[in-house]
Amino acid sequence: MGDAATANKLITFKNFYMKDAISRQEFLKTTALASAAMLVSSLESWAISTPQKKLRVGLIGCGSVSGRYLPHLTSSPLIEVVSLCDIKYDRAQSRGKEFNIASTYPHIDKMLAGVPFDMMVTTTDMQVHGELNKKALLAGKHVWSEKPMANTYAEGKALLDLAKSKGLRIWGAPAVVNSPQFAFMSKTIQEGKLGRIASAHGQYGHTGPTWSAFFYEKGGGSMPDLGVYNMATLTGLLGPATSVMAMTSIVNPERTVDDKGKIKVEAEDNAHILMGHSRGVISHVMCGFNYFDPHGHEAKGQQLHSIQIYGDYGNMRLIGYDWETNGVYLDNSWTEPAKLYQADSEGYVWQEGATKVGESLVKHIEPRIAVEHALHVLEIIEAARTSSATGKKINLKSTFKWPMV
Ligand SMILES: NC(=O)c1ccc[n+]([C@@H]2O[C@H](COP(=O)([O-])OP(=O)(O)OC[C@H]3O[C@@H](n4cnc5c(N)ncnc54)[C@H](O)[C@@H]3O)[C@@H](O)[C@H]2O)c1
Repeated sequence: MGDAATANKLITFKNFYMKDAISRQEFLKTTALASAAMLVSSLESWAISTPQKKLRVGLIGCGSVSGRYLPHLTSSPLIEVVSLCDIKYDRAQSRGKEFNIASTYPHIDKMLAGVPFDMMVTTTDMQVHGELNKKALLAGKHVWSEKPMANTYAEGKALLDLAKSKGLRIWGAPAVVNSPQFAFMSKTIQEGKLGRIASAHGQYGHTGPTWSAFFYEKGGGSMPDLGVYNMATLTGLLGPATSVMAMTSIVNPERTVDDKGKIKVEAEDNAHILMGHSRGVISHVMCGFNYFDPHGHEAKGQQLHSIQIYGDYGNMRLIGYDWETNGVYLDNSWTEPAKLYQADSEGYVWQEGATKVGESLVKHIEPRIAVEHALHVLEIIEAARTSSATGKKINLKSTFKWPMV
């Protein structure tokens, strides 16, 4: 941690870290909500209908991120990746060879009719997530979807309703709430160590993906690709947003990308989003595809903070990015310097979401990641687009179970 570590006391916060899942029994004990009971019963129905010990996974979309997902999924003793699909079929074949997965398909219909599996992992272009996730649910598969899980909040909510009606589960990225730093920050806030919370800020940007056009096409943009992480972190820490105001813009109207050459940028590549939470708390996210960052897309070794939370008795700054964190500064003393709390990573990596929810199905436990949270973030993104287009504050209707830790 360089300067930061030498200037301040390094503390591990394993003690603050609550395990990212509670047992099924505790889960039932701690909530009488009908929706929670439904979640458990769908976990049970999977257990009843699935005799094998491993969860069989089919992954669709064999591009860049599949290269991070597949090593993680295939390293789990509770998961077997049985099939791969990509409309650019050579990509499915090549990942099949790389990870020793025999069944590969050029179309979702063929994959769903092919070797049986239990959960689909969706890592395609963002714009087709909703339609592919719906097909998987209709075919009786659980779903883990890269963000966003659908193009609109209404489409996403319909997916959740469909999943519930069929006793299936659907979840959406990101997995930031799984990090021990998130757990530490949440617990610090809940224990009142920052006093009364007032304001928070998150930021994430780089100079934009170079490989695929969909990031810049309608339905893409820096909010669903990058801002989504900060939105998930800030709402996860501060509670659901009740309203949104935003300004978005296109700074760079033309790009050259690997799959389509020179393209016109249609989705925002620059966004500022204000979120109102309960108790008067206001937070802000800025994200964009025109941010110079010498740490690049991988963000290796980032020493600056990307999330900050202010209360009237203390503040916290998360070092690095919320999806790949390097520690948290806690400053809540007039006399002592800020302390750096360095997490034991406990094995957390940003690409673990599909593996963790898959394992939760096998172990019959409820994961910390909640689909209602992903849906809430989707509603924020949609509201930010509307607010920027109309100049109005947009009230939100969605919510999720909070606090998460
Ligand atoms: N690349 C990363 O580092 C990264 C990190 C986190 C999240 N993500 C998310 O992962 C998703 C994919 O991003 P990527 O960078 O891997 O994109 P990519 O362009 O590299 O890969 C997407 C793949 O999906 C395939 N595809 C598109 N439509 C399809 C369909 N209908 N059926 C089957 N295959 C289809 C494409 O042919 C392509 O191979 C996006 O939602 C992105 O936001 C990416």
